[in-house]
Amino acid sequence: MILSSAATFQIVNAVSRDEVSGGQSNVIAATRLPRRPTRAASGLTVRVKKPPRVITSAARALGVGVSPRYLVSPHRYLQSPHRLSQSPRTPKLFYLGSGSPRQISPSQQGLGSTWTVKAIVTVRRKRHSSVQERVAEQIDAASDAAGQKVVLQLVSNFVDPKTGVGRRSNRAPLCDWAEKAGIVADKVQYTANFKLSKSFGLPGAITIKNNHQNEIFVENIALQGLPIGTVYFPCHSWVQSKFQDPQERVFFSNQPYLPSQTPAGLRDLREQNKVSFQGNGKGTRKYWESIYDYDVYNDIGNPDKNTELSRPVLGGNAKLPYPRRCRTGRPSTKTDAKAESVLEMGQNYYVPRDEVFHENKQETFVGNTLKGLVHQLVPSMTKSLQAGHEEFQSFHEIDKLYEEGIKLRNFEGDNELLKVLNVSQMTEKMQQTINKASNVLQYAKPDILSKDRFAWLRDDEFGRQMLAGANPVQIQRLQEFPPKSALDPEIYGDVQSALKQEHLAGRLEGLSVQEAIDQGKLFMLDYHDALLPFVDRVNVMPGRKMYASRTILFHTQAGSLLPLAIELSLPGRKRVFTPGNDASSYWLWQLAKAHVSSNDAGFHQLVNHWLRSHAVVEPYVIATKRQLSSMHPLFTFLQPHFRYTPEINASARQLLVNADGVIENCFTPGPVSLEISSAAYSSLWRFDQESLPNDLIRRGMAVEDANEPHGIRLVLKDYPYASDGLLLWDAIKTWVNEYVSLYYKDAKSVQDDAELQAWWEEIRTVGHADKKGESWWPTITTPEDLKGVLTTIVWVVSGFHAAVNFGQYAYGGYVPNRPCITRRLIPEDGTDEYLQFLQDPEKFFMSMLPNVQQATTTMSVVDTLSSHAPDEEYLGERARTNWTNDPAARDAFKRFSRQMDVIERVIADRNRDPFLKNRAGAGVLPYEILRPSSGPGKTSRGVPNSVSI
Ligand SMILES: [Fe+2]
Repeated sequence: MILSSAATFQIVNAVSRDEVSGGQSNVIAATRLPRRPTRAASGLTVRVKKPPRVITSAARALGVGVSPRYLVSPHRYLQSPHRLSQSPRTPKLFYLGSGSPRQISPSQQGLGSTWTVKAIVTVRRKRHSSVQERVAEQIDAASDAAGQKVVLQLVSNFVDPKTGVGRRSNRAPLCDWAEKAGIVADKVQYTANFKLSKSFGLPGAITIKNNHQNEIFVENIALQGLPIGTVYFPCHSWVQSKFQDPQERVFFSNQPYLPSQTPAGLRDLREQNKVSFQGNGKGTRKYWESIYDYDVYNDIGNPDKNTELSRPVLGGNAKLPYPRRCRTGRPSTKTDAKAESVLEMGQNYYVPRDEVFHENKQETFVGNTLKGLVHQLVPSMTKSLQAGHEEFQSFHEIDKLYEEGIKLRNFEGDNELLKVLNVSQMTEKMQQTINKASNVLQYAKPDILSKDRFAWLRDDEFGRQMLAGANPVQIQRLQEFPPKSALDPEIYGDVQSALKQEHLAGRLEGLSVQEAIDQGKLFMLDYHDALLPFVDRVNVMPGRKMYASRTILFHTQAGSLLPLAIELSLPGRKRVFTPGNDASSYWLWQLAKAHVSSNDAGFHQLVNHWLRSHAVVEPYVIATKRQLSSMHPLFTFLQPHFRYTPEINASARQLLVNADGVIENCFTPGPVSLEISSAAYSSLWRFDQESLPNDLIRRGMAVEDANEPHGIRLVLKDYPYASDGLLLWDAIKTWVNEYVSLYYKDAKSVQDDAELQAWWEEIRTVGHADKKGESWWPTITTPEDLKGVLTTIVWVVSGFHAAVNFGQYAYGGYVPNRPCITRRLIPEDGTDEYLQFLQDPEKFFMSMLPNVQQATTTMSVVDTLSSHAPDEEYLGERARTNWTNDPAARDAFKRFSRQMDVIERVIADRNRDPFLKNRAGAGVLPYEILRPSSGPGKTSRGVPNSVSI
């Protein structure tokens, strides 16, 4: 940057000129200006017309600036001119951040004195300690009184010339630990007192050494007594006992710095702190560690238990590519050296310590029910339900799940399921009740049955759910007819479609097929290529039968999306079904729709939900912790968007997507589930097309149009997911743009940010190593590139995930509407099965659906997955106060929050618009999934900041 003025200018508030050029931009004071422009601190421009004659030593010591007319900002380089008194006797001191300057009164300046500074440390207590921990608490209280304390030390932004690193304060213990040992509270505040010499400078970091036996959770630290006011240090982290980890923990203040702006006194800590999270790729991770490392998916199978539970390693394999997961480093299995051993039931899996679900009153819901779900619920249900593998006999039996519930077995007051479910919370929060007196588990009525009991049977509802249901992200505009397959006929046989013009003729409102295509009125739900390669492997398994489906839909003048033809494919065998005009063909049409819905349910769960919003995000989380310092403005920005993702993903690998887990048991693809997911990652997933506009354009559901507010025009205006999603997309984009613009002014500032470049490089080449050669990865060389990448990431973890996650019970909680598993193919005319079908079509339909156990287990799982925790953070919210001290960033976030309120109202209005028939009308469910806010529980609305369930 350039220092320019006609006067002589000298930077005085630095130990050396190097400090200034290294970015001490918030601690600048000036006495004399150079006569010519001088290259100085990166990211800093100082223009001073009449420099003050006097610079106080207090200004130098405290890291505040003195300027006669203009203020200096680390982010904005030059704030609006601020006229000051020119009297040299009354220099005025300012804290120099971006946004409005904060003036320090003369009484606050305390010139020439020694500062007494108090640290208020907020510690969150554990609510559920083990016996061992409770014993250690007693020992800690006693030993604390004897001198074994939690000790803090402040680190200055300034370098100590003697040590060459940031100046250190005195070491100060938390002085009131022992006396507060008996306090019963969620949070307790402790104090530590410091005496700072006037030459100390502004504290930019705090180290903590925990000499106790128990770990402690430090929520935040407020440093009081400094003339610039309270300085905050967001921590939200476990500090381990020195007996576990002898290293001191380091926490930085909430002043964001790009790497080049790092105060000289903090540079070494910034680097060391980042490296401390990276690990070395070796060893078994221990529960208390905070190591973020990568590994392939080698932890899904359980070959030691049964060779049939062996699963291929996903990732690091050209045939089975996959995103990386957080490394746990457990020993190999005995039977397969490449597979990581499986934990026994009840053993805790490793996730970095600070990523574990927090344990407090509000979070108990998430912790208990989710962990209960993945650890114990499913096995317990198997044991506890009276039903075994029998099937529903009628629709009435399914309805009874909501009205009367399902009988539990062996109820003697301490039924295993009851213990797992923690009844008091489940009843209130999940509306899934267990009646102790009658020994019955009762399910909440899903939304699909709430307004129109028979809506699910109708074709228009079948089409509506593709635009506003549980999986509204798959439908595409038909571009050619008949559709073509890209599969290799050498391997998969004749892959020509069996769909003919006559299947559609007469039902296109007078249009020919080509005219309907040209007018953008034909659509397709296509699982042919994604599933056909797996069909044979699935269908040899007992109790699992699937097709690879294609559904052609027509958008009528009345505004409905009607399915006109369904093609169901087996390798070498294709059948086409159309809506029937007689009893038999009507029932066959219903069976065909059920198979399509089952295809949709499986692909939705494995690809659109698990892969595209859970698995692909994990490398972003890992890279963020490894490559971005917590003082980096992007780390601060991203933090709420990665909340709880490592834990929920680790939970899923433990009991949802693992061999013999919920997904394999309850969804048709069974053991090939994750291979389908890998195939989709291989052929479909592209980062650049995960942005909402690009995804819509890829699927032909929108076209570029510069005249439209979003830059694209929806082919179907009444596409609730897309139209509401674009509201969120634009709001996220604006917020990202404003935030990024605060810190990056030009391409050079982006290219020179070593942490940012390392972060993106690692995401592309390590976290997504199997995709590193793809040309579609965006590079980040300009602020615009960065804005695009961040907007996509935030959209995926918020709006996209919400859209595919929180409608699961509303539509999947009623298995006839969305069968998670299909157990029979559709009978062929002339067979005994066909005769059975003719004699009792309802019974045949039931025999095709999940059996009672599969259905009820899936209902419990999707019930939990569709629920919000009471402490959920939604878009536009940040639970952590003082997340940044940058007022410009806080102002931008306030605008984002207000925009969420606007979107709430717009969506509510849309749901009342009678012309939007996919979200309003007689018995039609409103589309509320992308309304940003929600209460706790299963609400079918609400967009959390992160993938947390
Ligand atoms: Fe999810």
